[in-house]
Amino acid sequence: MLNILKVDHEAQFNDIGAGIVASLLQTRPQAALGLATGSTPVGIYRRLVELYREGSVNFSQARTYNLDEYVGLPADHPQSYRQFMEEHLFRHVNILPHNTYIPSGSENPEAAVTEYDRLLEQAGPLDLQILGLGHNGHIGFNEPANKLHSRTHIVALDDRTREANARFFRSPDEVPTHAITMGIASILHAKQILLMAKGEDKAEIVARALKGPLTTHCPASLLQTHPNVTILVDAKAGRFI
Ligand code: GLP
Repeated sequence: MLNILKVDHEAQFNDIGAGIVASLLQTRPQAALGLATGSTPVGIYRRLVELYREGSVNFSQARTYNLDEYVGLPADHPQSYRQFMEEHLFRHVNILPHNTYIPSGSENPEAAVTEYDRLLEQAGPLDLQILGLGHNGHIGFNEPANKLHSRTHIVALDDRTREANARFFRSPDEVPTHAITMGIASILHAKQILLMAKGEDKAEIVARALKGPLTTHCPASLLQTHPNVTILVDAKAGRFI
């Protein structure tokens, strides 16, 4: 079932997104959270940090599993997704560092793939998977293709994805060419999914993902098969839905 929440203001977007995470942790403190990077969830993480400081949310027993990581960037590289998560969430709340899992793409990516699948299997279905949406319909780094992978794998990034992410790097050439990402089956295995999108430039792909045909050429369209998906969009991204 797709539950669409369209909001007018950034603050509502962040309140709702953070509220979904916070209420899950209130009822299930040991929840396993699937986390996303990108600009869309930043305000939600900021709000979660505020809720933590107010005493409304507690991460001490939570476990987090990130969707993806660049291949070739060491964990302490400023643009690694590990650094992103530290900067926007982990270092500001009481999550235990050993309970934060992110594929490690720097030394031996093949071994990291196997290890990440082992961790996900051990975790069982994630209680909540947070997702952003790429302009080409990617979720995590599952790029449009004739075939999609079900489990964790190494992926060559689309030119468009590299261009979109170049804004975070000093030069476009520095954007890694490959990433490790959770696969589609692992994403769909989560008990609940929160897909978020903001801005005019996402309006078309949001509509394709939610109302278009199920196709591997728009990986997010496969979310239509999941029984419990919440779509959180601002008015611009939700223009066609
Ligand atoms: C990145 C990430 C995705 C993210 C997407 C959208 O490439 N790998 O997990 O959802 O792109 O990013 P943004 O939220 O910045 O638009």
